[in-house]
Amino acid sequence: MTNFVEIRPRELKPALLELDGISRTTIEAHYRLYQGYVTKRNEILGRLPDVDLGAANQVYSEFRALKVDLTFAVGGIKNHEIYFEHLGGEGGDPDAAIGALIERDFGSADAWRADLRATGMAARGWAWTAYDWDEARLFNYVGDAQNTFPVWNATPLVALDVYEHAYFLDYQTDRSAYIEAFLKNLDWGVVNHWVGAYRVPVD
Ligand SMILES: [Fe+2]
Repeated sequence: MTNFVEIRPRELKPALLELDGISRTTIEAHYRLYQGYVTKRNEILGRLPDVDLGAANQVYSEFRALKVDLTFAVGGIKNHEIYFEHLGGEGGDPDAAIGALIERDFGSADAWRADLRATGMAARGWAWTAYDWDEARLFNYVGDAQNTFPVWNATPLVALDVYEHAYFLDYQTDRSAYIEAFLKNLDWGVVNHWVGAYRVPVD
């Protein structure tokens, strides 16, 4: 069995507690859910070495349960690390590299926003703007849970959490109002940093 290293939750940026339209109470509760994904990821990876590989079974087996639920925990970690990291900004239109990519692949910032809003309204968990390395373009992908529906070789650059825990306290069932608040708090500087760090080609 492969070795693994326990990971710890990333610190929450202080700016996340002062967002415009997403309350401190919501963020603090949301951050505790993220901490739970980290705890469970460590717990699952710690248990896997002791599982009987010979008993692996597709209908039910401990190995299957741990492997499936690991994808939920790891998905929850990755999704929320993007979400928390790229909030705390001034929103507005995307600029610099991400602005150029969005203009090229969606036609305009407004068209990107309209598609992301609709993707968020159509999702049961997440909407992501990701760069697909095979198609060499951005696309807004839909997700119903932490572990659905990843597309291989695509890198998420914007992660919109539409689980009810992200907005119910502030907006009850008005998800569209929450999506507007999310857009108002996006930090395009962080997204542009990722575009550069991942070497997404912009031309
Ligand atoms: Fe969440």
